[in-house]
Amino acid sequence: MKNILCIGAGYVGGPTMAVIADQCPDHTITVVDINADRINAWNSDQLPIYEPGLLEVVTRARGRNLFFSTDIDGAIKAADIIFVSVNTPTKTFGHGAGMASDLQYWERTARQILANSDRPKIIVEKSTLPVRTAAAMERILNSGDNGLRFQVLSNPEFLAEGSAIRDLMDPDRVLIGGQETEAGRAAVNELVEIYASWVPRERILCTNVWSSELSKLAANAFLAQRISSINAISALCEQTEANVDEVARAIGLDSRIGPKFLRASVGFGGSCFKKDILNLVYLCRSYGLHEVADYWQQVVTFNDHQTQRFAANITAQMFNTVAGKKIALFGFAFKADTGDTRESPAIYVAKSLIAEKADVWINDPKALKNARSALGDAPVQLEPDPYVAADGAHALAILTEWQSYQKLDYQRIYDSMQKPAFVFDGRNLLDHQALFDIGFNVFPIGRPPLTHLT
Ligand code: UDX
Ligand code: ADP
Repeated sequence: MKNILCIGAGYVGGPTMAVIADQCPDHTITVVDINADRINAWNSDQLPIYEPGLLEVVTRARGRNLFFSTDIDGAIKAADIIFVSVNTPTKTFGHGAGMASDLQYWERTARQILANSDRPKIIVEKSTLPVRTAAAMERILNSGDNGLRFQVLSNPEFLAEGSAIRDLMDPDRVLIGGQETEAGRAAVNELVEIYASWVPRERILCTNVWSSELSKLAANAFLAQRISSINAISALCEQTEANVDEVARAIGLDSRIGPKFLRASVGFGGSCFKKDILNLVYLCRSYGLHEVADYWQQVVTFNDHQTQRFAANITAQMFNTVAGKKIALFGFAFKADTGDTRESPAIYVAKSLIAEKADVWINDPKALKNARSALGDAPVQLEPDPYVAADGAHALAILTEWQSYQKLDYQRIYDSMQKPAFVFDGRNLLDHQALFDIGFNVFPIGRPPLTHLT
């Protein structure tokens, strides 16, 4: 029986620990956070994050071997293994601002662990961190005058929001990086044993610490690069008679390329891709690898361009003015099945339409609360009913691929809208021919528009 602690009850820490508790009933798992509201929410049926299947897993384990608490010091004292999944946002100040990771939360946590430990512990980096952070943390942890020696492991999380529980239950791989010493290998083995409770051993990959840290950044950079690549092709498709979905299918059938992650869109969002690439870029620059840095920077630069292009097209197609026109945004989350709006392209699209003096109405099944915080006091209407959001609008813009939007009655929506009625489908989610047949002017991503305008 081990006492496992996780510091940071966010999108990563919460679901990961819930699944470990569910799969390892012999271990006790405690999740702590400085944010008491978050902890209260984890202890209720209104969890602080929306994730399909999460409530069921939490309910099964909570109170049995899964506990949420704000007593960080007490929990550190009792713990054998400590996962750290505090936030590591991009720095907004000083050297590396806008690029490097802000490690203040991580360092504070390391010092707190040191202050509350009377025996050595295994510390597991779960937050995505710049390469070589583990070494810095190990230095802080091993600087105490009590002679304690901590092992710091890197165990990056590859879960994607919206499918977190499935990704955790059945991961492609679990990556564990540790020191190549006897004590390092022993610590790695302890962590391997925990995951081996439900993950086949051949999918548990052990590497050195640096490879593990870098693999996380590299995996996200490769995934984001695929999206920027298909989005770049989408721009070309819009100028020609090509259809980006047909191109994606054609190239995806090459088994070396594969079919996944080739959906053209208004741009990628989320808390990881941009942050991790900027981190990688910063790391490359700090080693003088400017060409490598420029290569990866372009993935982010192009993504921003794709979102800007989409927003600019709305105004351009609506006779170069949206001032005073009601526009309904369908979706505000950065992807479907989550309420998370961090780095969502919808934020930029909403702000640019507001700047053009449009009357912006936002609908989203899960993200309206976060939309309000993302937009501050910007003049937008948040509307939980999509039919009300669309009523009297000149245009709909689909920004998140919620399946519920496919099931709406678009004849009813068309009848309630101003004419000519426009649809800008930033996810190629809807049946464009059917919309066109109803009377809509349809502007997809990477496909020729279907328009009744002459
Ligand atoms: C990502 C990684 O997938 C995950 O492994 C890592 O641990 C964290 O970062 P996440 O950001 O939750 O996960 O979602 P993901 O499914 O990767 O989507 C990221 C963004 O890319 C979303 O905005 C999504 O809509 C967009 N996307 C994804 C596309 O535009 N096209 C695609 O084909 C796939
Ligand atoms: P991620 O997506 O990486 O999980 P989140 O922002 O969702 O990031 O979660 C990080 C959590 O870490 C937040 O709930 C935050 O309150 C918590 N946190 C930050 N610093 C500390 C700290 N020093 N001690 C405990 N929790 C912390």
